[in-house]
Amino acid sequence: MALLEVENLQTHFRTPDGGVNRAVDGLSFSVEAGETVAIVGESGCGKSVTSMSILRLIPEPPGKIAGAIRFNGRDLLKLSDREMRAIRGNEISMIFQEPMTSLNPVLTIGQQIGEALRLHQGMSRSQAEAKAVEMLTLVGIPAPARRVKEYPHQLSGGMRQRVMIAIALACNPKLLIADEPTTALDVTIQAQILDLMRDLKRTVGAAIVLITHDLGVVAEVAERVIVMYAGRKVEEAKVEELFRAPKHPYTQGLLGAVPKLGSSLTGETERLAEIPGLVPSLKQRIDYCVFAGRCPYATDLCREVTPALEEKAPGHVAACHYAVKEAVAA
Ligand SMILES: Nc1ncnc2c1ncn2[C@@H]1O[C@H](COP(=O)(O)OP(=O)(O)OP(=O)(O)O)[C@@H](O)[C@H]1O
Ligand SMILES: [Mg+2]
Repeated sequence: MALLEVENLQTHFRTPDGGVNRAVDGLSFSVEAGETVAIVGESGCGKSVTSMSILRLIPEPPGKIAGAIRFNGRDLLKLSDREMRAIRGNEISMIFQEPMTSLNPVLTIGQQIGEALRLHQGMSRSQAEAKAVEMLTLVGIPAPARRVKEYPHQLSGGMRQRVMIAIALACNPKLLIADEPTTALDVTIQAQILDLMRDLKRTVGAAIVLITHDLGVVAEVAERVIVMYAGRKVEEAKVEELFRAPKHPYTQGLLGAVPKLGSSLTGETERLAEIPGLVPSLKQRIDYCVFAGRCPYATDLCREVTPALEEKAPGHVAACHYAVKEAVAA
């Protein structure tokens, strides 16, 4: 059994004009214990909505979540709010893009790391403070005993993101969801945070769902990649396989301007390639290929029939009528 199994997730939002925005439309994927899975795709394709759905942080209404999100076999969508609070920040935690807005300006760093430890693990104030110093050491913050007593504004952006990671890891979560964890930082700091995440992967052993625009980051950190387009998964493969032989024309487009492996460490990260054309409106039901309107290879078939997610090579699926199928072991 996988640690996380997302099955046919549908997160839709009512729009003010009475329509429905199908932000996530039938997404399925799984994450094994200790594995790092990246979710990539253009702005608005439903990456953050997917992560917020896993943590049940979608406002309902206007949002509505359907499908199943099994964590260790338990469907999170069936838990009470109280049961969910016991999981959030404890067994599953999250790092957001903007460290300043996620930290509380009037609490010290130590108090903020300690909060979750006292809530979830019943630690005393002094135990929590000792653990906070240990966590700051783990994430590479110098003079941790002094830093725990400081407030967020006394730290640089990169330090604050390290603190966010320390908070997220304090309770020893089995799953860490990192939504664009380096996007708000400048490039040298990005590289340092990435290095830290790779180190932590080895030392902490939590599974990571890494959401990013940056294929350089994916190449550095992830083992498997899910490519989303307009609320759906269009391709999934192991990292090396996806970079070596992308099957979906959308992924091929994204990889058009991909940085070389290792370049994110030298600060030369690049954003995803621009693909001409517009993402289809999520307000209509699309019962043909979601990418047909922008695809250089689209035919009438693509404009009429939704391609199923099909195994094109071992462990490599894509939703495209024309993607070449390699020999798949039976
Ligand atoms: N609270 C909300 N209410 C209504 N619509 C929302 C809400 N949150 C997200 N959406 C819509 O869901 C869709 C997917 O948004 P999402 O934030 O998941 O994109 P994303 O892939 O994370 O993009 P980015 O790369 O820019 O962060 C968008 O159309 C967005 O407007
Ligand atoms: Mg987002």
